[in-house]
Amino acid sequence: MTLLKLDIETLFKRSEILDVAESPRKAQQISARFQEQTAQKDSPFFSGYRRQILSSEGLKESRQLADKLRASFDTLLVLGIGGSALGTRAILESLKHTIPAGQAKQIRIIDNLDPIFFARETAGLDWKKTAVAVISKSGGTIETMAQFAWVLKKFADEKLELKNHVVAITDPKSGVLRKWVAESKVQALEVPSDVGGRFSVFTPVGLLPLAFAGLSIEKLISGAQKQIKDQSGVTLKEIDRLAKRLCDYEDAGVTVHNLFLYSTVMRECGAWFVQLWGESLGKIHPQTKKSLGTFPITSVGATDQHSILQLLMEGRRESLVGFLKIRDWKSSDGFKMLDLPAAFGDGLSFAKGKSFEDILNGEAVATQQALEKCNRPVYSMELALLNEECIGAWMTFMMDLTSATGAVQGVNPYDQPGVEIGKKILKEIL
Ligand code: PA5
Repeated sequence: MTLLKLDIETLFKRSEILDVAESPRKAQQISARFQEQTAQKDSPFFSGYRRQILSSEGLKESRQLADKLRASFDTLLVLGIGGSALGTRAILESLKHTIPAGQAKQIRIIDNLDPIFFARETAGLDWKKTAVAVISKSGGTIETMAQFAWVLKKFADEKLELKNHVVAITDPKSGVLRKWVAESKVQALEVPSDVGGRFSVFTPVGLLPLAFAGLSIEKLISGAQKQIKDQSGVTLKEIDRLAKRLCDYEDAGVTVHNLFLYSTVMRECGAWFVQLWGESLGKIHPQTKKSLGTFPITSVGATDQHSILQLLMEGRRESLVGFLKIRDWKSSDGFKMLDLPAAFGDGLSFAKGKSFEDILNGEAVATQQALEKCNRPVYSMELALLNEECIGAWMTFMMDLTSATGAVQGVNPYDQPGVEIGKKILKEIL
């Protein structure tokens, strides 16, 4: 089955922003370069996320441990931030409605030190029935460890065995969390050393909590694998072509990449995309010293048609929009446009009898076409269904697109040197 559809043809029409029909980078074999980067360990731009997805590394262990935890606990508290939380939340929020009643377990993801948020998320927990997943690739992230220290004290006060309640997910060798795991003998899973935070959603980082929640991590991985094997409906060649074109637009002055999601339940996929795109591509070019990267933002349709659309239509010509919609909502609720009282007249009669999802998808197409009419750069993505396989394929597609765009720009999409300065200043301040 085709899981994903990508339509990028409108980006290749001449526009007011970009007056060339095809990429000047046409001759460059970016996908070859990108594949090499993700396959050769000695490349400075190496990431193992494709290797890890293909080998299903971490899948079996995550399933076994999640099933064990499901047998004893009602709630899983996830302590993690950035790549250790955003992918999990994106998938959970998108798919939790698909978990059959009676199989769903509670997940609380705490990814900030906001004390009110922390109090709210830990309030009313029955600690005897609560497990904790402390997730940190580096093992030393201040926000996560501050929360973890609080939880450790809580378990000590409640006289509960850490070995039963705590799972640590961290680098297999390095970091203080790994050291503590060895000493305390708590259960632990690995984030492969060659997979960075924002590319780690299909490692135990995302797999353990999602399996605990009641989702099929096997289907998620199957969708991700289909994307890597060019079997999802979108090939690496097309990703390559899109990556080059996005960079052409960036060179021509586009500064904003807006992911316009036509689904409220997928809203959190926007936060995941913002981190993936921004932290990977906002870089100084190693040779030219030019600052690169388009600002990732996210909009939700149809809601934000009543918010940001005016700016997209008539504001500065600096944004490019990627639409994402769901082809078949498989909605059995039967919500549709029913008759309004006569006083409303027939102004909305064009939608009479149409299902909510038909109106929503129609709005996605209409908004895209309206932007095209105004010569604004747009492309579109479509998930066949809102399920584990399609989400697995789409997230892998986005990671590949990010990697390929980094390869086109000549920057390393897998590091984040710019975030270190603030950490040093914080140490001085505290
Ligand atoms: O993508 C990244 O590497 C970062 O955003 C990390 O996910 C984030 O900083 C959290 O790091 P850690 O998992 O080491 O606690």
